[in-house]
This record gives sequence, C-alpha cells and structure tokens, in this order.
Amino acid sequence: MADLSVNICGVDFKNPVIPASGVFGYGREYEELYPLSKLGGIATKGTTLHRRNGNLSPRIAETPSGMLNSVGLQNPGIDYFISTELPNLLKKDTVILANFAGSTVEECVEAAEKLDDTDVHMLELNISCPNVKQGGAAFGTSCEMAAEVTSRVRKATKKPLVVKLSPNVTSIAEIAKAVEAAGADAVSLINTLLGMRIDVNTCRPVLKNNVGGMSGPAVFPIAVRMVWQTANAVKIPVIGMGGVSSGRDAIELMMAGASAVQVGAAVFTDPFAPVKIIEEMNDFLDSKGISSIRDIIGSVKAW
Ligand code: SIN
Repeated sequence: MADLSVNICGVDFKNPVIPASGVFGYGREYEELYPLSKLGGIATKGTTLHRRNGNLSPRIAETPSGMLNSVGLQNPGIDYFISTELPNLLKKDTVILANFAGSTVEECVEAAEKLDDTDVHMLELNISCPNVKQGGAAFGTSCEMAAEVTSRVRKATKKPLVVKLSPNVTSIAEIAKAVEAAGADAVSLINTLLGMRIDVNTCRPVLKNNVGGMSGPAVFPIAVRMVWQTANAVKIPVIGMGGVSSGRDAIELMMAGASAVQVGAAVFTDPFAPVKIIEEMNDFLDSKGISSIRDIIGSVKAW
C-alpha cells in the first residue's frame, strides 16, 4: 500500500480524493453505500446565508462526454446546514470543506463568520458559480472583485480558506495570484465552463436559465492546463477538479500540480467513483514503485 496522505494548509487528509461540492449533497445518500471515512474529504453543497430554491427546471442537460447544470445554488440555508447537516458530517472521520457563496460581499462575510464558529475543518469560498445573477462568477471573473471578497472573508475566519475559481476568465493564474495576495490559503479549480444547448425543434434553449455550467470528462484537458498554469503561478496549494473520472485522471491532475483532487460529475454516473479512484491511484503508485503520492505532485516534466 502506497502512502496516499497529503497535508493541505495544515489539515491532514488520509488520501487526496474529495467529492466536489454539489455532487455529494451532505453525504446522506452516499453513507448508505460506503463508509464516508474512506474519502480524503467531502466538499459540501454550497451553502448561502438564506435558503435558496435554485433556478427553474430544466436545469440539467446531457452533453457529449459531459453535462450542463444551472442549479442556481439551491440549498436550505446556512443555519440549517450548521444545525442539522454539519454535526452528522463531522462524525465521519474525513475532512469536511464547507463550500459557501453569497450574493454580496457582506453575505459571504456573514456566512464565513457563522462557519468560523463551528468545528468544520476548512472553508471553500465559491466565487465561480456561473448560474446566479449576483455574486458567484461576478466575483470570480475580475482580479479586483476576487481579491476584495477574499480579503473581507479572510478577516472573518481563522479556518483554512480555499477559494474556488472560475475557468471563464482570460487568465485563471492571474485570479489565483489576486486571491493569494488577498489571504487565500489554497485555491480550487476548475468550476464549470459556461455552456449552452438549443432544442432545434422548439428553438428554445434546453436549460430554462438559457446557459449553464459544463462539467464531465470533456472538460478534463482544460482542467489539467489550468491547474498546471495556476500551480506555476502561486505558492499556495492547488486543489484540482474538472472531469476527473479515474485514478489515472487524478494522478495526471496531481502531476500538473494539484495537491488533492475533487471528483464531480463522475459521481452521477457511478456513486462509487471516488472510492474506485482512491484504489486506482494506489494501484498506479504500487505498479511504479512510488511509495508516496506526495512525490507525484507537480512532477510533470514540461517541454
Ligand atoms: C449551482 O448550484 O448552480 C452550481 C454551483 C456552482 O457551479 O458553483
């Protein structure tokens, strides 16, 4: 057995595999299938200060080798998350990353203050949701706004702060540098790529929101490129995600510079995907005689 453990911002992960925010809810359905303690961590569905019903349906569409979603941050609100879901998750012997977002900087700050008063291990500030009119990607597509919201949230919490970045920008590395300078302890990327489909029989967009975020295996090479560019631009850890569906994909993203890997859309086609990915990563390391996953991080030999 290879050593799969990693340490990110002082937090120990038994392995680097984390179901991504939005595909795993609060773990309730998955704890019926396998012990959540097998996972390196869990990024919870994005919580906001107030309950949100999300966008109108249809809000999911299949695409070749991927999917579009326009969920719109549906969630029961941070007080419910803290009182009802977080206590259950904290019993699971895995790292919990509380993903949160806000329509305004003030809402992000207030949410961070509430989470700071809990035992959650890490915060993941989402400045990259493409499906909401206020906040979300509006914060994450300008260096100034990304830095402003990060620095205000930084002051509101002592917890390790991960900032989740949008790929819908000219240079994700520049946004990463801006949030690093503003106090982020780590960055996670990539959130979904803005996409659109049209029903040619009705001339209507497939999604009621017209546009949505694309994820799944089709976006994986973009994720590898952006993780590599970002890891070369910042000193803080990078958590990679975007179309990871096998242990080989996870290894590739770590070679590009990721210290851990989040698994998103793959969980919808196979709820066991994160557990299989952990096993496949271990098999890969054993087959190569590599004793620690940490030796893989950033090991790509670029031409
Ligand atoms: C959503 O709820 O719309 C997805 C979250 C995100 O893409 O950040």
